[in-house]
Amino acid sequence: MEPIFFVHLTDIHLSKPGKTPLFGLVMADKLRNVCAEIGKLQPKPAFVVISGDLTHDGDLDDYKFLRSFLREQEMAIGIPIHVALGNHDFRGPFREGYLEETPSEESYYYSFMADGLRVAVLNTQVPGTHDGRIDEQQLAWLRDLLAVPAPRGTIVVHHHPVVPTPTAMMDSHLLQNPQDLARVLEGTDVIGLLSGHIHFHNIGQLAGFPCAAADGVAFGLDPSSAEVMRMVDRSGYNLGVVKNGQMVVQPMTMPGDQRVLGRV
Ligand SMILES: [Fe+2]
Ligand SMILES: [Fe+2]
Repeated sequence: MEPIFFVHLTDIHLSKPGKTPLFGLVMADKLRNVCAEIGKLQPKPAFVVISGDLTHDGDLDDYKFLRSFLREQEMAIGIPIHVALGNHDFRGPFREGYLEETPSEESYYYSFMADGLRVAVLNTQVPGTHDGRIDEQQLAWLRDLLAVPAPRGTIVVHHHPVVPTPTAMMDSHLLQNPQDLARVLEGTDVIGLLSGHIHFHNIGQLAGFPCAAADGVAFGLDPSSAEVMRMVDRSGYNLGVVKNGQMVVQPMTMPGDQRVLGRV
């Protein structure tokens, strides 16, 4: 069976043009550079999935810009781009500006197929907070979805990660109910989980399922910084391949000066 290549991006933190840039960086330029690299990959990836923090402020105009920008990049690279929501996203403006639907606070989760591989995209937002949790409704939806296996297995995409990080400070940003998710995944065709939010590559497992968080596209965080959150001018992504029934992840880093942008 042919391997399936894909790209996992996260934390693009896009803003509409003209806004004061975060850390003086134009996030659209950073994403454009990453997309240019993706466009050169051989074999060509089957899809790109972005695991949340699509915008920084979550304004309606940011989502309108996100829509036109991502459609432009899809055309340029010839690869479909799928998205999940993160803690910096807002459902109402996202539904109106990106999906071009009537705005509502309805959670955004769905699945898609690519060459026999199923991708389940979850929404771990806890509205009004930066916390991450998978609610009962989504757990029930995921249980139903996974009841029937997909030909090449399933990958689950969600913003808040489940793997412990190097520091206690960053651990406070993890998904709050990983064991609920683990119970739903048990005995299913899931081959891996992909997430973001922490802005650095971090690989581990949940109940034996391989899990990979990716570096941010907009900026990185220093994973070894225990006392302060140190933001770094860096972009990265995960190059994924499904081969021999496994999800294999190659963390990729874009060239850059890795300069410290700020500390929180
Ligand atoms: Fe983020
Ligand atoms: Fe986040």
